Amino acid sequence: MRMYDLIVKKRSGYELTHEEINYLIHGYTNDNIPDYQVAAFLMAVFFHGLTPRETSDLTMAMVNSGDMVDLSSIAGIKVDKHSTGGVGDKTTLILAPLVAAAGVPVAKMSGRGLGHTGGTIDKLESIPGFKASVSTNKFLKQVKDIKVAVAAQTGHLAPADKKLYALRDVTATVDSIPLIASSVMSKKIASGADAIVLDVKVGSGAFMRTLADARALARSMVEIGRAVGRKTTAVITNMDQPLGNTVGNALEVREAIKTLNGKGPQDLHYLCLELGSRMLLAGGVITSSDDASGLLQNLLTSGKAMEKFTEMVRFQGGDITVLSNLNNLPRANNFYPVKSPESGYISAIDAESVGRSAMLLGAGRHAKEDFIDPAVGIVLEKKLGDNVHKGETLAHLHVNDTKMLPEAEKLLTMSYKFSAQSPEKIPLIIEYID
Ligand code: URA
Repeated sequence: MRMYDLIVKKRSGYELTHEEINYLIHGYTNDNIPDYQVAAFLMAVFFHGLTPRETSDLTMAMVNSGDMVDLSSIAGIKVDKHSTGGVGDKTTLILAPLVAAAGVPVAKMSGRGLGHTGGTIDKLESIPGFKASVSTNKFLKQVKDIKVAVAAQTGHLAPADKKLYALRDVTATVDSIPLIASSVMSKKIASGADAIVLDVKVGSGAFMRTLADARALARSMVEIGRAVGRKTTAVITNMDQPLGNTVGNALEVREAIKTLNGKGPQDLHYLCLELGSRMLLAGGVITSSDDASGLLQNLLTSGKAMEKFTEMVRFQGGDITVLSNLNNLPRANNFYPVKSPESGYISAIDAESVGRSAMLLGAGRHAKEDFIDPAVGIVLEKKLGDNVHKGETLAHLHVNDTKMLPEAEKLLTMSYKFSAQSPEKIPLIIEYID
């Protein structure tokens, strides 16, 4: 087999065989096929796409390029959840303990943030002492003992995806639906869960800007999951404004804790109940989504979900005293209000710009090796549909290093759009794909 022939075949729009895809991924992972040939192949995929069979084969070839976490020693149906990335999306911090408190084991591998979307691991690491890098044995033992662990994904899971993603990033081939679907699903499948609930974001802060694309991505991932024997469902949700009111690591932990105590912002609370219900249904502990939602609501108001989060933080070395005294989480030295430049209804908040503004303050990374300041970020005081007067505070910037403050403030102000009439309400949950 020759890589040159595979490039020609895909460039001409033909379907590759199972063996050809394995040859490509195996050869690339082992450095036997150079970047420039794989780059040419990726561009051919970008224009011609992949068939569902090719997409599943590519996914499994990437899974088989590294280790697979074996969760079989943990009793019950293990359910994982994945979001395609949003701004202010702290749902994993809430859902992992919430669903575990309902009896479904959650063994969750998560990533760090890059670009305008944050990463769960960075958020958890803003809790002093919290250790996200744990050995597989310790990870499994924790899930057996307390039903929940959230750990940093190791480099041995789907290493082919890691290498391919870095190449896609510099060859303008990231936004290809079959490449995104196989990349996400390879990591989910390698993480070992029996069932997967996907939150596919659509809107100004998401990878997918149109509903048609979000639907195609969700369908492709659900199909891959089914093809390889993992029960997979997807929910398409709106990301036309940040989720909740906070963007930035410790600020998001603070909001997640409020939500776990039943006092979170309405959109975040509602999304957690919806995704949590899907996870309970997938985990087989309940059969109706109304019952699931009621059970989850009870776990929030009774304090059981918060107890589970506290247990998880303690097991992973975090300082649990900050959980009851949120002022002891990292806090920025300066707070700057951002004032409304006009009067009217807020008709749009460009979520990507809010994410980029937080990144400028130090809450996110431009490059993998960048340092994150856990304390900084943005608290939105006004959201879509709110009526404001000129000069009223739209948001507060939480700042330590003021170097990028003017740019961050400008970006945040520009992310708000205004209208004379109250804008049409866009539902948060747009569609279910089963
Ligand atoms: N997230 C991933 O893990 N992979 C992609 O290709 C895009 C987003």
